[in-house]
Amino acid sequence: MAQDYVWYQGIPFPVVYICPEHLKAVHEKLVLKDEDIITVTYPKSGTHWLIEVLSLIHTKGDPNWIRSVPTGLRSPWIESEVGFQTIKDRKEDPPLITSHLPIQLFPKSFFTSKAKMIYVIRNPKDVLISGYYFWRFTNLAKKPESLEQFFEWFLQGYVPYGSWFDHVRGWMSMREKENVLVLSYEQMKKDPRSMVERICGFLGKALEPGELDLVLENSSFLAMKENKMSNLPCIPEEIVPAGFKITRKGITGDWKNHFTPAQTQAFEETFQKKMVGLPPELFSWD
Ligand code: A3P
Repeated sequence: MAQDYVWYQGIPFPVVYICPEHLKAVHEKLVLKDEDIITVTYPKSGTHWLIEVLSLIHTKGDPNWIRSVPTGLRSPWIESEVGFQTIKDRKEDPPLITSHLPIQLFPKSFFTSKAKMIYVIRNPKDVLISGYYFWRFTNLAKKPESLEQFFEWFLQGYVPYGSWFDHVRGWMSMREKENVLVLSYEQMKKDPRSMVERICGFLGKALEPGELDLVLENSSFLAMKENKMSNLPCIPEEIVPAGFKITRKGITGDWKNHFTPAQTQAFEETFQKKMVGLPPELFSWD
């Protein structure tokens, strides 16, 4: 890799499909439509899972679409030049789009639109572990040499898309807006049915009980693991090596298998410092 990161406005980004000129254009010029349904997450928080659920809500549980079209084409990432082009070329519904952008770089048009946004938040300790495996085994950005190193980078925000703490803090300022729904990965794991019902309520969509069952069945971890289209099928092998799956473990609390007691303490201290003032119920994963 010629570069470790693409830098824009002090934030490190992956080096593939992203460039500063495009990020600037997305921020300043991309016009979001009122009917857009936007998935926003910090990477490794359950983005692909939510997109699978939204795709299946759109098809009323029919898995044909999710099994034939890759996640990135169903709900393209706006910060990626390829994703942006896909959105521009798209002629048909659904208007699903995705982003990992921090709030200050998000398209300005969103803040005066009625576009609906779902933000997924996940225990950052699990995000860190998931991210470690992801960034280490793919060639999208700077690769950590060890978990110890990645742990330090994560606390400093020296990781793709910058600091988790800043990302979440920024987006949580929107949590009371009518067109924003905040979900947690942990709630989704604990009670996926309620989560799908909440999403349907938020989007104003109704599913028959049988359709809801199909959404749940086809977006389960195992179903997604078997679905090639949910596991980055379009990215060349030199960037994402063959056999790599987004669906790694799909559990809560994997950090406990990795963190040392000293790391747990250091993480807690940083968390308390950075997230001060936000309501603790937003972070109810333990
Ligand atoms: P792990 O690496 O901890 O297993 P993102 O899509 O934002 O990159 O997030 C990837 C994480 O979501 C991975 O976490 C992956 O396993 C998990 N995931 C994907 N689909 C899931 C599903 N259906 N149920 C639970 N977790 C899922």
